[in-house]
Amino acid sequence: MKTYNVGIIGATGMVGQRFILLLHNHPWFKIKVLAASPRSAGKPYSEAVGAKWSMTAPIPENVKDIVVMDATADKEAIAEQVDFVFCAVDMKKDEIKALEEAYAKLECPVISNNSANRFTPDVPMVVPEINPEHIEIIKAQRQRLGTKRGFIAVKSNCSIQSYVPALHPLMKFGIKSVLACTYQAISGAGKTFESWPEMVDNLIPFIGGEEEKSEKEPLKVWGKIEGNEIKVASSPAITTQCLRVPVSDGHTAAVFVKFENKPTKEEILTAWKEFAGVPQELELPSAPKQFLNYFEEDNRPQAKLDRNLEGGMAISIGRLREDTQYDYKFVCLSHNTLRGAAGGGVLMAELLAANGYFD
Ligand SMILES: NC(=O)c1ccc[n+]([C@@H]2O[C@H](COP(=O)([O-])OP(=O)(O)OC[C@H]3O[C@@H](n4cnc5c(N)ncnc54)[C@H](OP(=O)(O)O)[C@@H]3O)[C@@H](O)[C@H]2O)c1
Repeated sequence: MKTYNVGIIGATGMVGQRFILLLHNHPWFKIKVLAASPRSAGKPYSEAVGAKWSMTAPIPENVKDIVVMDATADKEAIAEQVDFVFCAVDMKKDEIKALEEAYAKLECPVISNNSANRFTPDVPMVVPEINPEHIEIIKAQRQRLGTKRGFIAVKSNCSIQSYVPALHPLMKFGIKSVLACTYQAISGAGKTFESWPEMVDNLIPFIGGEEEKSEKEPLKVWGKIEGNEIKVASSPAITTQCLRVPVSDGHTAAVFVKFENKPTKEEILTAWKEFAGVPQELELPSAPKQFLNYFEEDNRPQAKLDRNLEGGMAISIGRLREDTQYDYKFVCLSHNTLRGAAGGGVLMAELLAANGYFD
């Protein structure tokens, strides 16, 4: 595989920091540019990120002295130096849409963690194990944008990355309805206990916009390409409640599911165990070997013990049992800034690279 030069837009943020750790030794992608807001621009990365660095590993030596660029003012210079960019910024939705489209039109593909383009009909929202075929819509998007190389591909919200993977291999039993309650880590808001002390010994029963995303985004992931757009699926019916809990990393979901054809418990466990996607077949560098992992112990998965399974890219599931109102219930967990954000972005980029989309 050839190597590609990449930029990280939003490099000083929580997701940007994860990108730095995942990419500084990546076999295919080489960090060439770091960019953020005008507040950080012109400073060496270590100074720009300062006390906001919240990873347990230190800032990699080969990144510390890179001078941060301005994501908007320097976009032409950035696009010239890289083969594509990862983007994770905290800006207004219309500003993010304009920024991502500007990079795409500069013939610089954008792998986005932001929500601004998730429902643009010709922008693929990809969980590589679930809907890798959606990248084919990029051809139609390039036609709309008038580009040869440039395009936008997005990651879904972190909240759905535990229960959608667990439900996906069960779709063959005809899922009628799903109820999911999520228990989401504070890093999902770009925060630590130091920067958000109110979260210690606390739970906040509201995360702005999260329930809408958690109910709608799975239907795009399970959608189909029709003509020049991805047509969202009309089922299953999904209802959610999303809570912020005092956990540093790792989103947990308690899931209830009703089927058209109720499987046995054994059939569900087998479907999880045997499920593998294109990333496993292609042996992409960031793909977990076993995507879905079932724990027999009653007290698993636990955020602290299990979020880092296979580099934070695997999904942990437990407590599968029959329910009195739905058919089954279970609990699942994924690392929100790895599988749910930067790691999922890197895996999607590997899928695109393996299919020639950055050439
Ligand atoms: N955290 C998660 O688990 C998670 C999961 C999935 C998706 N996301 C999404 O990823 C994005 C970033 O989240 P985060 O948690 O990393 O946020 P964050 O920690 O608040 O970081 C925000 C980043 O955006 C940059 N930024 C702010 N205003 C900017 C501007 N005008 N121009 C260019 N850059 C600007 C900041 O740069 P400065 O340091 O210079 O201000 C910083 O690098 C959001 O869209 C979020 O919804 C987050």
